[in-house]
Amino acid sequence: MADNYLKHRFHGRRKGKALTTHRKSLLEVDFVKNYKIKEPHMPFNNGNPIWFEIGFGNGEFLSHMSQNHADINFIGCEPFMNGVAALLSTIEKPVDNLKIWSDNARILIDEIPDNSIERVYLLNPDPWPKKRHEKRRFVQPDALDDLARILKPGGDFIMSTDVATLAEWMHWHTWAHENFEWTANSQDDWLNPPVDWPLDKTRYMKKALGGETIYWLKFKRK
Ligand SMILES: C[S@@+](CC[C@H](N)C(=O)[O-])C[C@H]1O[C@@H](n2cnc3c(N)ncnc32)[C@H](O)[C@@H]1O
Repeated sequence: MADNYLKHRFHGRRKGKALTTHRKSLLEVDFVKNYKIKEPHMPFNNGNPIWFEIGFGNGEFLSHMSQNHADINFIGCEPFMNGVAALLSTIEKPVDNLKIWSDNARILIDEIPDNSIERVYLLNPDPWPKKRHEKRRFVQPDALDDLARILKPGGDFIMSTDVATLAEWMHWHTWAHENFEWTANSQDDWLNPPVDWPLDKTRYMKKALGGETIYWLKFKRK
């Protein structure tokens, strides 16, 4: 397991500006007691479908979904602790269908059983625009192998970005992967969120939307 931490390096931020006393206590008490995945493992076994979000940022999507869909289990991964605190600050009553891995998603994915996840969301991942940083982008052939392994056949892999070059990168790599099928049924499919997308926009999308397009890529596990 320690090997996984060496194998998968995380290049983003883990901490931002100082937290308020309330958010600090959410992380020290609420998070540890109710939500934290302490060692990487599959945290659910009640038979309900499992949706997995990589890099949830401030957690708008997970907060909305976990409080409105008690019959779905949610696993969220986010190493940026201010984001974890932001998510917890929006949960009104504790929910038991949400578990959080506050580290690199790749480390947890390595311990998730084959064919166990119904959906994976990768919303607005870091674009790493410089050529020499492309290897840091989340979507890489080996990460796609891992996602294909944990997704159930027919499961969904949903991505978004406002960065056209990243959209092309994510599309090309996933389209070229033998286990994924692009579900587009019209030429402008990439402009439309999934039919059951519940939010207007995440905070990140609102910032990005200063005239920019959000590209949606909706794939299925073959
Ligand atoms: C640009 S932000 C987008 C946040 C959110 N998905 C949204 O749409 O508002 C990308 C997030 O992915 C997280 N991230 C980057 N690499 C990650 C990894 N390997 N595992 C988990 N989270 C990661 C970052 O910490 C950051 O919060």
